[in-house]
Amino acid sequence: MLPIVPSPDLSGPDAPLRPVRHAARDPHTIFRRLHVSDRDGVLDHLLCLSPQDRRWRFGATTSDAGIRTYCDRLDWEGAIMLAPVHRGRVCGVAELRPAATAGFAVAPESWAEVALSVDAPCRSQGYGRELVRRLMISARNRSITTLAMNCHLDNGLILRLARHFGARLSIDHGDVEARFRLPGGNPLTFILELWDESEAMWIRPEALS
Ligand SMILES: CC(C)(COP(=O)(O)OP(=O)(O)OC[C@H]1O[C@@H](n2cnc3c(N)ncnc32)[C@H](O)[C@@H]1OP(=O)(O)O)[C@@H](O)C(=O)NCCC(=O)NCCS
Repeated sequence: MLPIVPSPDLSGPDAPLRPVRHAARDPHTIFRRLHVSDRDGVLDHLLCLSPQDRRWRFGATTSDAGIRTYCDRLDWEGAIMLAPVHRGRVCGVAELRPAATAGFAVAPESWAEVALSVDAPCRSQGYGRELVRRLMISARNRSITTLAMNCHLDNGLILRLARHFGARLSIDHGDVEARFRLPGGNPLTFILELWDESEAMWIRPEALS
């Protein structure tokens, strides 16, 4: 028998979890979890980022060799990696690294770090927002209560995105830490994650080719 669950209220505090409709408009783009077999796709996406984007994404000037090393060290088991995938091509990456994976010994288990980037030609279509939305749902379903995202003061788009999801911003010498406090998961967040995951499996098979 199905358990009785509260009816989803997407007009209340969970409003930002509502799927981004315009992000899903292109039938050949899906959002899906990435796996170790996507390593080369992630690498290609990151190598296409401009020097400025790399500074914003990694917090420092990053060479091609640095990006390769970063991809070699990705923790595919411990982190959650999501991407918009257009006709099989990875055109953005969002990464959620729980405290243990991120290597911060002092951070509590319920803490995680988020970083993301989207291919320049794919920007301003809601991809960034959709990636953060999905990561927040995944985090809530794994009892993560704090998400931290390092931004730069000049990076207006990511700051706007952070504010959209109710981040608290703290500024230190031009660096901004956006911090999201998350409520626990609930039946709605479980359903939303299942729904999001199922998109890649059977809702939009045309996006795989
Ligand atoms: C930051 C980044 C991921 C945003 O990706 P995106 O797909 O363009 O983001 P979205 O389309 O979801 O837009 C995000 C917000 O900026 C707004 N926005 C997007 N393009 C805009 C534009 N040209 N002018 C004004 N606002 C714009 C959107 O309306 C949205 O705001 P909202 O949530 O209040 O509606 C992308 O710019 C990027 O990859 N930058 C380089 C790497 C980086 O800076 N990473 C962040 C540090 S971890």
